[in-house]
Amino acid sequence: MQAADRQRFAAVSMMIDDRLAELIRRRPRTLVLTGAGLSAESGIPTFRDAQTGLWSRYSPAELASPEAFEADPERVLDWYDWRRELIARSRPNAGHTAVKRLLDALPGARLVTQNVDGLHQLAGARDAIELHGNIWRLRCAAPGCRHERYWSDRTAPAPRSCPDCGKILRPGVVWFGESLPAQALASAWQLAEVAEFVIVAGTSGLVHPAAALPFHALEQGARVVEINPDRTALSQAAHWHLACSSGTALPALADLLDAP
Ligand code: APR
Repeated sequence: MQAADRQRFAAVSMMIDDRLAELIRRRPRTLVLTGAGLSAESGIPTFRDAQTGLWSRYSPAELASPEAFEADPERVLDWYDWRRELIARSRPNAGHTAVKRLLDALPGARLVTQNVDGLHQLAGARDAIELHGNIWRLRCAAPGCRHERYWSDRTAPAPRSCPDCGKILRPGVVWFGESLPAQALASAWQLAEVAEFVIVAGTSGLVHPAAALPFHALEQGARVVEINPDRTALSQAAHWHLACSSGTALPALADLLDAP
């Protein structure tokens, strides 16, 4: 491990007090909730980061919405092709790998993510609940047409017309103003209901209903740790706030499970 990584690791280990270490070693029923910050260290800008290059003059909210798609579908589809290209060049980082280790080691642990990039799955996380869909899924925008497909070709832009009805294909993600997939939300809510321990990593907690999940778990008596270099509305209510990157904090938490 490089000296800088050792330093960062030592710093976050200082933040992990005995109570948190003991809780994890007890292997509680755990829910992991992640946001765009998890993929920041894979080179994927978060939603609240300023956009770069060609898209710097737009905010995601101006592109990830039914109104934007209605007004200029080609521009929205170009933006999603740009994001898929960026994601295709990215690899899961130490945070994604640590989430998989935690899911494997903690009995009944589940992952609920707001991320649509599929990097958790690439890191081996199974049964991830994708509250906001997945950028690699396409579905027909025509009302009544149920065509949906998974676009796995990382080397070419996604097709834009439905093979069944010829209408335009849109990304299988949840846009601003749209409802979340009912089953995914119900499962996430249920997991928050029964969790003893919640790890919230890389989310600003600005977008509901995902942002309400940790608070729901707190009301049921769960212990909550937040991992985020910045403070959020959850920071005050969480039992621990590890003010560092998920790529550093999550491996430190996972290592507690290896320690004798
Ligand atoms: N490690 C941990 N957290 C990080 C890191 C990192 N390396 N880098 C940035 N962050 C934090 C930021 O401080 C911020 O609080 O990640 C958070 C990212 O917040 P957002 O960009 O708002 O992303 P997210 O919370 O996932 O947004 C939720 O909003 O735009 C919609 O549908 C979109 O799923 C998205 C939802």
